[in-house]
Amino acid sequence: MSSWLITGAGGLLGTELRNLLPAHSTTALSREILDITDATATADAIALLRPSVVVNCAAWTDVDSAEAHESAARAVNATAVRGLARACRRGRIRLLHISTDYVFDGTGHTPYAEGDQPEPRTAYGRTKLAGERAALAEHPAGTTVVRTAWLYGPGGRNFVHTMTERARTGEPVAVVDDQHGQPTWARDVAERLLTLGTGPARPGIFHATAGGRATWYELAREVYQLTGADPALVTPIPSVALNRPAPRPAWSVLGHEGWHATGLAPLRHWRTALHDAFRTIPSFHDTGHTPIAPRSPACVR
Ligand SMILES: NC(=O)c1ccc[n+]([C@@H]2O[C@H](COP(=O)([O-])OP(=O)(O)OC[C@H]3O[C@@H](n4cnc5c(N)ncnc54)[C@H](OP(=O)(O)O)[C@@H]3O)[C@@H](O)[C@H]2O)c1
Repeated sequence: MSSWLITGAGGLLGTELRNLLPAHSTTALSREILDITDATATADAIALLRPSVVVNCAAWTDVDSAEAHESAARAVNATAVRGLARACRRGRIRLLHISTDYVFDGTGHTPYAEGDQPEPRTAYGRTKLAGERAALAEHPAGTTVVRTAWLYGPGGRNFVHTMTERARTGEPVAVVDDQHGQPTWARDVAERLLTLGTGPARPGIFHATAGGRATWYELAREVYQLTGADPALVTPIPSVALNRPAPRPAWSVLGHEGWHATGLAPLRHWRTALHDAFRTIPSFHDTGHTPIAPRSPACVR
């Protein structure tokens, strides 16, 4: 039976994974308990716990602030990952390392394949790509890089959560309609991590994003509909209207050939998963709030 160590366990994905894995064989360490930039503490924790699988959910995930703090982001997203991978190789431990669609330039028109050339355009993307490469170089036989994107779930702030709250109060919202991606329930990713951690080792890269694609605007309308609010309260705007420090990829659609090639099922369609999430997650389907009078639109994404 596998024993698991989750780093960055206090975040959105770490929380979903912690809820899914068997408690008796899982150690979930949040940043307060293990800061992965402390290489000695990380190596000691791995040597002491001797898990069969480490899932690294820890990351500097603030895309905009990474632009001004790239070396600090690199310390978490790349340097620490190298140390983690080294400790895993020494202990013959499998490493599932989570990465991102931001490793690509976001200018494509067809889904990015696992083997496509990365070309990050942001500090966050550069540091995450460096982390992928460091892990695969340090521990090639035991590292699986799992790229995901557009995550939502109950364990933290995310777009679906924000839209749900706005829909409940009947708030009009302006949302960008020129970025395409794959809204992905973190629980679906957690389930694939469980598969990757328990079957035969599958070193390399997998894309753990939902099927289909949508814009943030389309996703927001779907959330308003599911919450019982009028989707017409959601209006489309272009990305340039938000003027973010880090450029957002216009095309964040990932291909899923890695799953097919290894005989595993890719994640389900984003709309199917979203409807399921609204049935399952109490904070999403709770309709205890009464819609109030519309205000002027907030701009989102
Ligand atoms: N959310 C998305 O849409 C998305 C999209 C693409 C890829 N990903 C990737 O998915 C993975 C999980 O992200 P998430 O969505 O769960 O983000 P998250 O909610 O921000 O979780 C990241 C966690 O890492 C922790 N952390 C930061 N620095 C750390 C350190 N030095 N040592 C230990 N823990 C540290 C954070 O703690 P603090 O909160 O205390 O800082 C946080 O709990 C990341 O690799 C991310 O790059 C996420």
